[in-house]
Amino acid sequence: MASRKKYVGGNWKMNLNKAEAVALAKDLATKVDDAAPCEVAICPPFVYLDAISQALCEAGNKTIKLGAQDFWTAGNGAYTGEISLDMLKDVGVSVVLTGHSERRHVIGETDVLINEKNLKALEAGMEVIFCIGEKLEQREAGQTDAINAAQMSYGLAGVTAEQMKNVVVAYEPVWAIGTGKTATPEDAQKAHKAIREHLTSMFSKEVADGVRIQYGGSMKPSNAGELMGQADIDGGLIGGAALKADDFMGIINAAK
Ligand code: G3P
Repeated sequence: MASRKKYVGGNWKMNLNKAEAVALAKDLATKVDDAAPCEVAICPPFVYLDAISQALCEAGNKTIKLGAQDFWTAGNGAYTGEISLDMLKDVGVSVVLTGHSERRHVIGETDVLINEKNLKALEAGMEVIFCIGEKLEQREAGQTDAINAAQMSYGLAGVTAEQMKNVVVAYEPVWAIGTGKTATPEDAQKAHKAIREHLTSMFSKEVADGVRIQYGGSMKPSNAGELMGQADIDGGLIGGAALKADDFMGIINAAK
C-alpha cells in the first residue's frame, strides 16, 4: 500500500476575533513541532493572516503551514474587495483552499472558476487543498461517486501530473459539515477509494497513490482515529474542532 504522510488542516472559516485567532495560533505553535505525526495547516480569516504569520515566526514555528480560505485569480488591479495570490504570499501563505462547498453552494462559485483558481494557485507555487463533496439529496440518490468524479474532472482539468504533487483533495460530504453527522468510517472509505480510482483514471496509479485525500465533515477527536485508520483517508480538513487547540491537537495526535 502506498505510504502517504497524513495531513490535517484547520479551516477556521469566518470565526474568532483577532485576539482569539492570534492566541489560538500561538497556542498551536507551542504544541505542533516536527515530531507531529502529520502535516498541519491552519487557514484563518484573511484579516488575521499577517498577525498570525508573525506570531508563528516569533514562536520559531516552521512546522505549521499558513493557509488562506480563498483568493482571486488575477495578479492585481481593479478587483474591489479581492485578495491576490501575491498578497497572500507576502504574508507567508503557502496553502490555499479551493472548491469548498460553502463557496460552491453559498457564494455560488462555479466549476469553471474553481478550475481557474486551481490552475492559478498551482502556477504560483501554492499547495492546493481542493474540496469536493455531495449534497444530502445527491447522496440519497446514490450519486456520491458521480458528483465527486465530476467535480474532480472539472476542477483538475489542465493540472499536470507534476502539479498534482501539490494538490490535496478534501472530501467533504456537504451533509456532514457543521452538522455533527459524520460519515461512518466505512462510508467515508468507500467514497475515498472511488476518489482515488477516479484520480487514477485522470492521471495514473502512481499520481493517485501519492495524493493525500482528507476527510472533512464533523471530524472530532472522538472519531478521528477510526476515520484516519481507513486505507484511503489520509487526514482531515477540520472546521469546528479546529477552533479549540485541544480538540485540534486531539485530531492531529490521532493521525498516527
Ligand atoms: O473545511 C472543513 C469544514 O467544512 C468541516 O467543518 O465543522 O464539520 O468540521 P466541520
